Amino acid sequence: MDLLISPDGMLGRAWKALLEDKGLPFEAVSYPEFDLTSDASLKRVSGGNYGRVINCAAWTDVDGAETKEAQATALNGDAVGQLAACCAAAGSVLVHYSTDYVFPGDATVPYPVDGAHDPVNAYGRGKARGETLIRESGAEHLVLRTSWLYAPWGKNFVLTMRKLGADRDTLRVVNDQRGRPTSAQHLASASLGLLDAGARGTLHVTDGGECTWHEFAAAVVATVNPDCDVRPCSSDAFPRPAVRPAYSVLDLAPTEAILGPMPHWRDNLAAVLSQVD
Ligand SMILES: NC(=O)c1ccc[n+]([C@@H]2O[C@H](COP(=O)([O-])OP(=O)(O)OC[C@H]3O[C@@H](n4cnc5c(N)ncnc54)[C@H](OP(=O)(O)O)[C@@H]3O)[C@@H](O)[C@H]2O)c1
Repeated sequence: MDLLISPDGMLGRAWKALLEDKGLPFEAVSYPEFDLTSDASLKRVSGGNYGRVINCAAWTDVDGAETKEAQATALNGDAVGQLAACCAAAGSVLVHYSTDYVFPGDATVPYPVDGAHDPVNAYGRGKARGETLIRESGAEHLVLRTSWLYAPWGKNFVLTMRKLGADRDTLRVVNDQRGRPTSAQHLASASLGLLDAGARGTLHVTDGGECTWHEFAAAVVATVNPDCDVRPCSSDAFPRPAVRPAYSVLDLAPTEAILGPMPHWRDNLAAVLSQVD
């Protein structure tokens, strides 16, 4: 029996659907009844007999973390460390998700899985702490770094661009940040594939290919309003509280050595958009 923490978020929903589809037995626990920062909730993990604990809970408000770093790190760092300790005590495998933001974002070649932490912002610092505490806990674990998550549900860039593109004649989207989009459904299914293959430690999972936000937006908007003029602009046009990396491409080679090539983001994007009304 697996434990799925936070089945209602973007990735949690994808995991829940996947486990149901595969007929795999699991329990799902949702916030606020299950609060990762509470000892009472964590006791359920240490006292359970779960084969895998799949953690989809997180503070994901990247800009909000700049002014509330302590709260963000309490969840993304310290509580994750406590969760890992509970998994170690119970003999459960911890499956956890981290981010490209643990890296500085100034590289010109993809970040390797063993690249040094040098987080670009407060959210990245909290997620880096979570990674470190998992490694120190002694828990058997699979930590998967990912980036630019999107799904047919939830609050995400694809659904936002789809709506804006349908309503407007022109859009401006930043063209000086390069990365790898990731379908949450692909991430869940690649996670399960890695677990089935016995993978442990830290790996990266994203869609294949790479692009800028402008290229990604243009691909989305073309499906709803080909007449909308999607114009490139620089990040200076949209100042935000948290620094965003100029280059955050995660190296997929170790993952692809296990699973084969990751599907291209254009294919995963088409699959996700086909599910949106
Ligand atoms: N989104 C991205 O672009 C992105 C990029 C890189 C990495 N990641 C990582 O990928 C993972 C999944 O992200 P996501 O986008 O699916 O997140 P999400 O949609 O924001 O979902 C996060 C979930 O965590 C729950 N939660 C909040 N506080 C909690 C607490 N104290 N205890 C238990 N659950 C709590 C939320 O519940 P409520 O909704 O009720 O608050 C929500 O269901 C995270 O580890 C994230 O850091 C995401």
